[in-house]
Amino acid sequence: MREQLEKIKEQIESFEIKQNEQVEAFRLKFLAKKGELNDLFEQFKSVPVEMKKELGAKLNQVKQKAQEKWENAQSQFEHTQLGNKKNEIDLSLPAEEDFIGSRHPLTLVENEVIEIFKKLGFVYSEGPEIEDDWHNFSALNFPANHPARDMQDTFFISEDIALRTHTSSVQVRLMEKQPVPIRAIMPGRVYRNEAISARANCFFHQIEGIYIDEKVSFADLKQTLYYFIQELFGQDVQVRFRPSYFPFTEPSAEMDISCLLCKGKGCNVCKYTGWLEILGCGMIDPNVLKASGIDPEKYSGFAFGMGIERIAMLKYGVKDLRTYFTNDIRFLEQFKSE
Ligand code: PHE
Repeated sequence: MREQLEKIKEQIESFEIKQNEQVEAFRLKFLAKKGELNDLFEQFKSVPVEMKKELGAKLNQVKQKAQEKWENAQSQFEHTQLGNKKNEIDLSLPAEEDFIGSRHPLTLVENEVIEIFKKLGFVYSEGPEIEDDWHNFSALNFPANHPARDMQDTFFISEDIALRTHTSSVQVRLMEKQPVPIRAIMPGRVYRNEAISARANCFFHQIEGIYIDEKVSFADLKQTLYYFIQELFGQDVQVRFRPSYFPFTEPSAEMDISCLLCKGKGCNVCKYTGWLEILGCGMIDPNVLKASGIDPEKYSGFAFGMGIERIAMLKYGVKDLRTYFTNDIRFLEQFKSE
């Protein structure tokens, strides 16, 4: 029996388990009821008493070895089986769609406007959204207690600091630091203390433009804006200027374009006037040039400012301003671009 045990021990050790089926073959050969080890246990019953201790211990050892080898093999194959399942690729499944983001409509319009003015030699500039009184009001010819300060309901942070109410504050910053001639386009977010509705929000976006040089005239302003509007909305759009008032421009005007929806015939978008107001503009007031250290005797300039939301509303037929800011993916997805 001793030799038999040795032989079985060797067999157990040299049994190769390389495939899943061999795990079961191993169990049948050694561990099953009719397996070889059980045979030995049968034989053990008739072993003389004085040898029982030694052979019994050996027999148990060999059985344990076989048991361990089987269990290890089993868990190893379980793993690889699971692993295989994970790596399996089902080629018949429909492909998952990649989600590609899109630019926000306001960014699209902003970029388009900047590109048009770039062609005319305007450079890009920007300024802070938290602005002091000087740059937002005083340097733009709004004296303290001037009624024009009431034109805009402002978010004040302190007596002297506020969230800018228009991008005209960037004009001042540029005039202060750049030598003339200046030709710049300045987009940015502005804030006004307004109730939120389909037509108004407490923040929105503007694009400001200025051109200062010797002998800049109102004709230059008109021609620049004509060009801009035709580039943006096409050759068929009509343009008109209406006299207006801004503290920082003199003369001042508002520019209207013929209604894009009814082509000037009159509809509810243009309130049956056939015209849509699109921007404010004018010749920079000599006081404003002086406040920033530019000699108004030598230089003149024009400025204009427009709301990006408004242009995007006209371009894309957006009816409610709030849709720009709610980040509804169904709205944003419509603006997929390259
Ligand atoms: N800042 C003005 C506004 O917010 C627009 C404007 C800019 C008008 C430049 C004239 C010149 O309404």
